[in-house]
Amino acid sequence: MKVIGIAGSLRARSNTLHYVKTGLKVLEKEGIKSELISLRGKEIKPCNGCYDCVKKGYCTIKGDDFDDILDKMRTAEGIILGSPVYLSSVVPQLMALLARATFVAYWNDKFFSGKVGGPITVARRAGHNLAFSQLLLWFFINGITVPGSTYWNVGMAGTGGARDAENDEEGLTTVVNFAENMAAVMQKIFV
Ligand SMILES: Cc1cc2nc3c(=O)[nH]c(=O)nc-3n(C[C@H](O)[C@H](O)[C@H](O)COP(=O)(O)O)c2cc1C
Repeated sequence: MKVIGIAGSLRARSNTLHYVKTGLKVLEKEGIKSELISLRGKEIKPCNGCYDCVKKGYCTIKGDDFDDILDKMRTAEGIILGSPVYLSSVVPQLMALLARATFVAYWNDKFFSGKVGGPITVARRAGHNLAFSQLLLWFFINGITVPGSTYWNVGMAGTGGARDAENDEEGLTTVVNFAENMAAVMQKIFV
């Protein structure tokens, strides 16, 4: 059993990366392998709407990191998606990955279906609800089971890109509780 955690921030001192890592650590403790993928330093070109994937079953956009990441998402039983909140939304690099991944999966027997996963968002102050919902909609359309937590998996960061979200105890506890529930669901489904 393996979980892939994708952190959508391009920043070195990323709050989102810290939150995704926190979730993966809990899963590791529960005996589930994990791999962290940071989009920092990676290129994900946007979907160009060519619909080649519908005919060919793969994305024909080449020369970026999409295929490698999609491969890891395809083979993992669990997926955690973490995004910084930009203008109340998921960051564009992560949305580009998710749009292309969804269409390729959809025309390949919906290969995300049956996996387990969930979203994490980190914002300075506001906009979580929309960004968190965008990620939830992604899990839902792909047939992925999302375990709950004790609150929504959101972290509050400081101004100017400070890494203050690591001091947001409630945010981190919510992620820990989510990851524990995710491990419990995975152990029931995949054993
Ligand atoms: C272009 C841009 C847009 C942002 N929009 C919002 C926003 O809508 N709401 C908010 O609370 N914070 C916003 N922020 C702050 C980030 O969400 C915050 O710094 C977060 O910690 C970034 O995640 P990271 O540390 O993982 O990179 C924005 C930051 C940038 C650079």
